[in-house]
Amino acid sequence: MKAAVIERQGAIENIVYRDWPDPEPGPGEARVAVKACGLNHLDIFVRRGMPGFPVPMPFISGGDVAGTIDALGPGVEGWSPGERVTMNPQTDDGMMGEEIPGGLADLVIVPAKNLIRLPDNLSFETAAAIPINYGTAHRMLYTRGRLAAGETMLVLGASGGVGMACLQFGKMTGATVIAAAGSAEKCERLTALGADHVIDYSEEDFSRAAWLASGKKGCDVVVNFTGGDTWAPCLRTAKRGGRVLTCGATAGHDPATDLRYIWVRELDVLGSNSYSQEDVERSVGYVAEGRLAPVVSHTFPLAETGAAERLMEERGFFGKIVILT
Ligand SMILES: NC(=O)c1ccc[n+]([C@@H]2O[C@H](COP(=O)([O-])OP(=O)(O)OC[C@H]3O[C@@H](n4cnc5c(N)ncnc54)[C@H](OP(=O)(O)O)[C@@H]3O)[C@@H](O)[C@H]2O)c1
Repeated sequence: MKAAVIERQGAIENIVYRDWPDPEPGPGEARVAVKACGLNHLDIFVRRGMPGFPVPMPFISGGDVAGTIDALGPGVEGWSPGERVTMNPQTDDGMMGEEIPGGLADLVIVPAKNLIRLPDNLSFETAAAIPINYGTAHRMLYTRGRLAAGETMLVLGASGGVGMACLQFGKMTGATVIAAAGSAEKCERLTALGADHVIDYSEEDFSRAAWLASGKKGCDVVVNFTGGDTWAPCLRTAKRGGRVLTCGATAGHDPATDLRYIWVRELDVLGSNSYSQEDVERSVGYVAEGRLAPVVSHTFPLAETGAAERLMEERGFFGKIVILT
């Protein structure tokens, strides 16, 4: 098969489109012919290298897969070759595309129990925009964050994969959503997607703007997976008793903080990691019902995975970038 192989960790040029041995499904596993694979910021972290998370090289990243079942290993029941599927990439052996080989390739192996049937009305391209972003947002907002109708939620990085999923879940739940992103054009598009207030943080102080947008009451829920110098200002946007949710730190994991806000406002800082099969299945169901609508701004062929990662690094996309095989 062909694959976008990370030969060694580092620059984008280390991703090489080349031949790779066809993987064989073991007991309980399915081999899926990949039709579409969504990119995530995780793919950039895997390629660059993450302190404390060694990845065996060469390696194939990509955890957001949609395709058709190509072959089944011994003992798999209830599935047939040719069925259209997506999958929960969080397997018992580790995360696809981070700890075990992912789907930036023609073929990928997945435990059959992680498969999710694709409703007929979902394209492969749309399906490949769901598992990681919506699964992560579903767990973070509901299991961890207890988001409820009528609450006000600030989402930083709302133009990206997880951020847009948070915006859409927020609107689906009946929350007032303040969506913050890095350009006027992205903010316009977020308004069109239903954001109640938008903040262009390349132009204005998001902390002050969010406070004003909340009617000077503060937000019930604040979503911050950016970290870095956005962390302390985001604490100021939360109301007394508010929940500050984090699932990542794109701009830095050891930011300055401001403890005064945490105790004076009795804030709950809640971490969220990964997602369950149910988080992903429910997300797929909501998209099939038309209650959520992933946005794919760019597609690339597998051979141009490097160019796609460059666009993600440069923040030149909106919603999701999907690789088509
Ligand atoms: N723990 C988990 O299970 C889990 C799961 C999924 C993702 N994550 C984490 O969540 C974060 C977002 O992931 P994602 O895949 O949604 O990423 P993404 O699609 O690249 O979106 C991130 C958005 O953040 C904004 N941003 C602000 N500062 C940035 C910076 N310094 N560099 C890059 N983008 C910046 C960008 O929007 P603007 O240009 O509009 O500012 C960008 O669109 C990552 O840190 C990822 O590792 C964690």
